[in-house]
Amino acid sequence: MTDTLTAPAPQTKDVLTLRQPDDWHVHLRDGDMLNFCADYTARQFARAIVMPNLVPPITTEAMAAAYRDRILAALPEGRVFEPLMTAYLTDTIDPEEIARGFKSGVLTACKLYPANATTNSAHGVSDVKKIYGVLEKMQEIDMPLLVHGEVVSADIDIFDREAIFLEQILGPVIQAFPRLRVVLEHITTEDSVRFVEDGPDTIAATITAHHLRIDRNDMLVGGIRPHAYCLPVAKRRRHREALRAAAVSGNPKFFLGTDSAPHQRKDKESACGCAGIFSAPNAMESYAKTFEEMGALERLEGFASEFGPRFYQLPLNEGTITLRRRPQAIPDTLTVPGIEIVPFHAGEDVGWVFEG
Ligand code: DOR
Ligand code: ZN
Repeated sequence: MTDTLTAPAPQTKDVLTLRQPDDWHVHLRDGDMLNFCADYTARQFARAIVMPNLVPPITTEAMAAAYRDRILAALPEGRVFEPLMTAYLTDTIDPEEIARGFKSGVLTACKLYPANATTNSAHGVSDVKKIYGVLEKMQEIDMPLLVHGEVVSADIDIFDREAIFLEQILGPVIQAFPRLRVVLEHITTEDSVRFVEDGPDTIAATITAHHLRIDRNDMLVGGIRPHAYCLPVAKRRRHREALRAAAVSGNPKFFLGTDSAPHQRKDKESACGCAGIFSAPNAMESYAKTFEEMGALERLEGFASEFGPRFYQLPLNEGTITLRRRPQAIPDTLTVPGIEIVPFHAGEDVGWVFEG
């Protein structure tokens, strides 16, 4: 009964008008790739948490400020977009540097990559105990920690790496730093859904558009599909179902983060293909398709536009966007001279169009 009274009005229309969303986890790269991909994110999202896994990684306030300027310079004239910058935690990063960057407003959060967990994570943290001093500082200044939640030991099966991370690393971190705000990024398992649901209010999670749609069969049945390969890797169907239920639940601990991560087609269609799915061009359409399938379009706005700012303690966006239910054939590839990328949903009809 209470639910019916408090639930937002059902969205049954063919036109969805939402408060402008933010992307709480994206890879915008650098150089030519940045110039190619940045505006796909900026046209749909007002703000985005920008991942720092460049080569070399973003580890100082000055590097983050310079990267932010390059992102803004890559956008077309007149585009309004706010990149929210992050620092890449290493074993030796200076807590005072992080604190200065946060205080000046250049840095919004820090990212924990366990060393060698994913793309450009070689400089990541080899043992979380080594950064306990940094976490202490972050807790003190109330700076969010963003976590790539996978253990990396060679003897742990890739499909188990997220669940074991919760037990071995994240559980103890949360216990040791009870006031530290933590975002468990791009969750892929039912275990993570439960961990976040059952955890304190200091912990939240982002969910990608692709993990709401693909499971490991989509990657491996009938031939190996490198464009469905990302990290954390998609798991079995029941995990995808748990993610879908969490995303549409209206629980503010779960919010949008695309983890859009472009790689050249040749680097993905290779004997050792890169991890990452480029979902930025049609991210909101993809989420709308999933929420529609779940009969929960009225919950999309909370997930995409309200719960993230609430967790990050930032104001809600004032503007709106429009999505129209209409066939939209996604191209097989996106190409400019020197770059060819296969986007998420390539060759499919996503069923919605982002109208701006
Ligand atoms: O699939 C992924 N791609 N997962 C990550 O964690 C990193 C990202 C990238 O940078 O390519
Ligand atoms: Zn990522």
